[in-house]
Amino acid sequence: MTFKVLAISGSLRKNSTNTFALKALQKIAPADITIEIADISDVPMYNGDLHELGEPKAVTELKLKIRQADAVVIATPEYNFSVPATLKNVLDWASRPPEPPFNEKPVAILGVSPGPVGTARAQYHLRQVLVFMNTFTLNKPEVFINHSAQKFNASGELTDETTQKFLLDQLLALKTLALRVKV
Ligand SMILES: Cc1cc2nc3c(=O)[nH]c(=O)nc-3n(C[C@H](O)[C@H](O)[C@H](O)COP(=O)(O)O)c2cc1C
Repeated sequence: MTFKVLAISGSLRKNSTNTFALKALQKIAPADITIEIADISDVPMYNGDLHELGEPKAVTELKLKIRQADAVVIATPEYNFSVPATLKNVLDWASRPPEPPFNEKPVAILGVSPGPVGTARAQYHLRQVLVFMNTFTLNKPEVFINHSAQKFNASGELTDETTQKFLLDQLLALKTLALRVKV
């Protein structure tokens, strides 16, 4: 049976290295794992007044995709040692009723940065947020893609074979976790 993964990139820009990592994951994934990259560009900034008027369409659609996925992969950039507002905003919307879809959802996190620590600081903040949302976040293997300029080519393809192996190992571990916790 096909294992369905929804992938979320915390960067909206066209040439996002985090989105490139998710595209690489699509290529690396075995045939029985499908990876859809979510479009979060239409999700508005959270505002309780707006929410009271009804859940925005982009939020409803995203929550449905999360609910229908067997697992979620989040690729986060690091902004000022933390998670970008874009990603936190999406998680904030998804954490609200009706039917918050991240409850007990298997999640793997990774991140890409041009610097030496590969988003480690942002990833630990993200893990903390996901604790409150009661996800089953994969502990290991962690994937910190540092020095991004050396890992992706000018077309945005992940050329570094060691990183490809890290991504595959994490994806397979995510599937194992998801099958283990499935009720
Ligand atoms: C507002 C802002 C803050 C940033 N802060 C950090 C940081 O704390 N640590 C870091 O390694 N890179 C930082 N960067 C650089 C990002 O890692 C870099 O822009 C990265 O390519 C963003 O991911 P993307 O390629 O997926 O858009 C920052 C970039 C922006 C725009």
